[in-house]
Amino acid sequence: MAVGIFDSGLGGLTVLEAAQKRLPEVEFLYYADSAHAPYGVRTPEDIFQLTRAAVHDLWNRGCDLVILACNTASAAALRRMQEEGVPPGKRVLGVFVPLIEALTERQWGDNSPPREVEVKNVALFATPATVASRAFQRELAFRAIGVDVEAQACGGVVDAIEEGDLILAEALVRSHVDALKRKMPSPQAAILGCTHYPLMAEAFQDALGPEVTVYSQGDLVAASLADYLQRHPNMLGAGKGGYLTTGKPATVGSRATQFLRRKIEFQAA
Ligand code: DGL
Repeated sequence: MAVGIFDSGLGGLTVLEAAQKRLPEVEFLYYADSAHAPYGVRTPEDIFQLTRAAVHDLWNRGCDLVILACNTASAAALRRMQEEGVPPGKRVLGVFVPLIEALTERQWGDNSPPREVEVKNVALFATPATVASRAFQRELAFRAIGVDVEAQACGGVVDAIEEGDLILAEALVRSHVDALKRKMPSPQAAILGCTHYPLMAEAFQDALGPEVTVYSQGDLVAASLADYLQRHPNMLGAGKGGYLTTGKPATVGSRATQFLRRKIEFQAA
């Protein structure tokens, strides 16, 4: 009984960790497409093909439910995969909706018309592909009116994290926050719209200042997954949990161990 968690690399571990804490009885099969990371600088077609292949792999390994713990994949591939039709008994879900529901003070699955919400100025930090897709703004517009979103494409941050170069990652975060603040000097809230970024949450909060509420996806996605599994207990799937990568298992495992501060061993996908 494993739920599949997919990311281009290490970022989805921030979602996995929250999900494991929230649902200790559930097994998770993590899949990092490290050989092709970062996704955020690829074309939508490329991201769709890579995501589709990885999700089919997880379905074939017995994960009936796969979470795209990657905003870039959710933006470029989720809708298209759902439109082309998923195999019977399988599901794939993304990470945008739980975050936007939290930001717009909605309960899960509340489909009422868009309305005014508390927060008016939102900074969105995401990969170049996610920013270019405008998927976040689209999902937000279904739920809220009068929210000004300023998006900052954070080139280089995912590469630095995947390389384990946290000094570079932190310097890049500071320069992207500065660039955002030149466009929107006083955001009320900031969205970490890439699952890698919570690994640099302190740097974001520090650069933004204590008055800005920073939203990350881990806990929000974990809570919405718990709710989903309660309503669909048959989606727990078959097979064992573990960690798979298309990259070098030893290297990916040692970076994951460094980030999660517990021993993580990856197998070749
Ligand atoms: N963690 C992915 C996301 O949430 C990063 C994508 C990348 O590989 O650039 O967007």
